[in-house]
Amino acid sequence: MARKPMMAGNWKMNNTIAEAVVLAQEISNHYEKEWPEHVDVVVCPPYVDLKPVKTVFDFDKAKVSVAAQNVYWEPAGAFTGEVSVPMLKEIGCTHCIVGHSERRELFGETNEDVNRKVKALVAGGIAPIVCVGESLAVRDAGTTDEYVCAQVRAALAGLDAADMAGAVIAYEPIWAIGTGRTATPEQAEAVCAAIRATLAELFGGEVAEDARVLYGGSMNPGNVEALVVQPDIDGGLVGGASLKAESFVQLIEACL
Ligand code: 13P
Repeated sequence: MARKPMMAGNWKMNNTIAEAVVLAQEISNHYEKEWPEHVDVVVCPPYVDLKPVKTVFDFDKAKVSVAAQNVYWEPAGAFTGEVSVPMLKEIGCTHCIVGHSERRELFGETNEDVNRKVKALVAGGIAPIVCVGESLAVRDAGTTDEYVCAQVRAALAGLDAADMAGAVIAYEPIWAIGTGRTATPEQAEAVCAAIRATLAELFGGEVAEDARVLYGGSMNPGNVEALVVQPDIDGGLVGGASLKAESFVQLIEACL
């Protein structure tokens, strides 16, 4: 079965509620009815913006999914500052980013933490968007595939094929994030293909064929087409270019 592309905008720590509602409304104004047939569109705002953004899309009947950027693995309790899967579920989040390199690097998130979060999301019926990616040092050492595929194995440890329904992997080379330096389509394709081969090894060919593998790292309207035509790249997880409706819409349209 052919995979439907996904274009996901990771807003990171940008947009107050007022700004988020304006951006969601602008995306909604560009919304075309044929999008859902060809591409899944997802936006990942900060926690506080999730409900207001979802309300805009629901009101306009725009099929744009809303996803969180992080989650905690316990369902409730004394975990000051954290947000749980049931809380995201109640808002209507369909997906949640896990293991973004900024969380790993700036907040000390480990492969084990990522695995706990993935398991909690799967158990709660929210599809994880698992981020993996190498530093420049790893790339220069020539061990990118091993490093990235080990991250994939660690994130998905203990899951079975059924748990993988809807799961998404995002390959985001750290050296390409927010730097304006994109991986070439060939570099990105090679790693995404290696990720898919790892999924096949872990869960079988069918899961590997169905799972979406996204590219992230300075994706923009100028380079998106060359990336998404690659056989193992099923769309993008986009930071900067998702913060303006005009460029985000161009990225969505490149997937049609
Ligand atoms: P940029 O598109 O700004 O490089 O960010 C990529 C990213 O980290 C998406 O999660």
